[in-house]
Amino acid sequence: MTATPGSASAAQDDRVNSQVCVIIPAAGSGTRLGESIPKAFVDLHGRTILERCVDQVLDLDAHVVVVVPADLVGRARLLLPPHVEVVAGGAHRSTSVRAGLAAAGDAGIILVHDAARPLTPAGVFRRVIDAIRAGHRAVIPGIPVADTLKQIEQLDTDLARVTTTVDRDLLRAIQTPQGFTREALVAAHADDEGLATDDAGLAERIGIPVHVVEGHPMAMKITTPWDLRVIRQILDSGEVVT
Ligand code: CTP
Ligand code: MG
Repeated sequence: MTATPGSASAAQDDRVNSQVCVIIPAAGSGTRLGESIPKAFVDLHGRTILERCVDQVLDLDAHVVVVVPADLVGRARLLLPPHVEVVAGGAHRSTSVRAGLAAAGDAGIILVHDAARPLTPAGVFRRVIDAIRAGHRAVIPGIPVADTLKQIEQLDTDLARVTTTVDRDLLRAIQTPQGFTREALVAAHADDEGLATDDAGLAERIGIPVHVVEGHPMAMKITTPWDLRVIRQILDSGEVVT
């Protein structure tokens, strides 16, 4: 069957040929990490978290847009390869994502990937991109949950009561990169008030189906000092998956 413009298969064909843009929000302050500099600029064995994150996407043939605090745009440009675009972020993660989106050019496939996940293997990016090219509008990586999960009711500040045990087989811990067609990401962010921390959540809210592909434990997020310690030990061990 020949694809006609506007048909589902024509949209899919567009995606097959479409340019990919990876937006890397790195404009947060890292309050929970508690270092004296913004999280993306913290050192991980000789390279900043931001440089290590960008390293992971350099082989993807994608336009890369990094979003950093306004006063660190010059510093980021010096640290990163010249073809990586650097723009200033906003007060919330989602305003930073929108600043990146404004610099994404005409890419038809856009991945949003937190700088705070600097060791994410390239294979995770490829799975997300492949699923978008296969026809999905929003695709996120997830991993099974190992812990038993229980819903609780907080009784007071230091005591809670279990209300139910959740079936973890149906749960996934969601990582980034989260991938979207351009139209899906633009629509998802259209009425956001600036507080959303999950792009896929914005897409779900307006009825866009979100699909999950396999993530990777190495895509772990650095939030607390403990996470930084774990990731430094992974680097020490040399067991980084590329
Ligand atoms: N981010 C951003 N702009 C913001 C806030 C967050 O680009 N205004 C980015 C962060 O740099 C990070 C990602 O969004 O790469 C995920 O955010 P999070 O892990 O919460 O980082 P921070 O906001 O920096 O940390 P904290 O919430 O502890 O302050
Ligand atoms: Mg934050």
